[in-house]
Amino acid sequence: MRLVILDSSDRVGEWAAKYVLKRIRDFNPGPDKYFVLGLPTGSTPLGMYRKLVEYHKNGKVSFKYVKTFNMDEYANLPRDHPESYHYFMWHNFFKHIDIEPENAHILDGNAPDLKLECENYEKKIKEAGGVELFIGGIGPDGHIAFNEPGSSLVSRTRVKTLAQDTLEANARFFENDMSKVPKEALTVGVGTVMDAREVMILITGAHKSFALYKAIEEGVNHMWTVSAFQQHPKTLMLCDEDATLELRVKTVKYFKGLMELHSKLIADTP
Ligand code: GLP
Repeated sequence: MRLVILDSSDRVGEWAAKYVLKRIRDFNPGPDKYFVLGLPTGSTPLGMYRKLVEYHKNGKVSFKYVKTFNMDEYANLPRDHPESYHYFMWHNFFKHIDIEPENAHILDGNAPDLKLECENYEKKIKEAGGVELFIGGIGPDGHIAFNEPGSSLVSRTRVKTLAQDTLEANARFFENDMSKVPKEALTVGVGTVMDAREVMILITGAHKSFALYKAIEEGVNHMWTVSAFQQHPKTLMLCDEDATLELRVKTVKYFKGLMELHSKLIADTP
């Protein structure tokens, strides 16, 4: 596992965008070879999306031969609701780039049969050849996508009932009114993300520092579902200084000492 520690959340967004740009370029996608990207929502990846849009507008990257699969979506929230992940992705990313709309996949939280929707999502990922790079974010309780504490670490895409912590964390997006926060969501499973050829997780802010500690300094534990990625052969975690507050000095020193090596991962990017 690699941990890249950057000065601020802005730097995390920029570094992540450069990495995505480099991976797409190096992959050299075309009509017979699509680059398959897994995507998160939330405030953490916003800086990455802004930068990717900028790189696209400056002609540095095209998404014409990219297929995307989003991690999660609320159940029974209208697609055009400003807090739906469909709305988020369209306004913060898709409408600004050249992706073909049919290549941008997001779970449909209003499908008549949610279970079937989840099964079909898994099929679509397989048909696309699997995910090359899955980008994720976490909640302060260490959940990845909506894989709440206690989720199976081999879980697949399914409907999840959200934990109290998540409902409280999300209340700010729903006028601080708990009754308006959706109680269920559709989410890829931990196993779905584990199947990706590479996973990049963005973690910023002091409120996520305990989760980062649990993710990398303690064992694999279904109560901190992000810790499962210790067992993925290619996990890259990006964090800011604030998120390292609960880590041992030794851990931080070790990974900071690797910074020169990490910089090579984004060599020749803007
Ligand atoms: C929700 C989403 C996660 C996301 C998390 C963090 O729980 N389901 O996919 O990673 O929020 O959001 P933020 O980046 O706003 O802290």
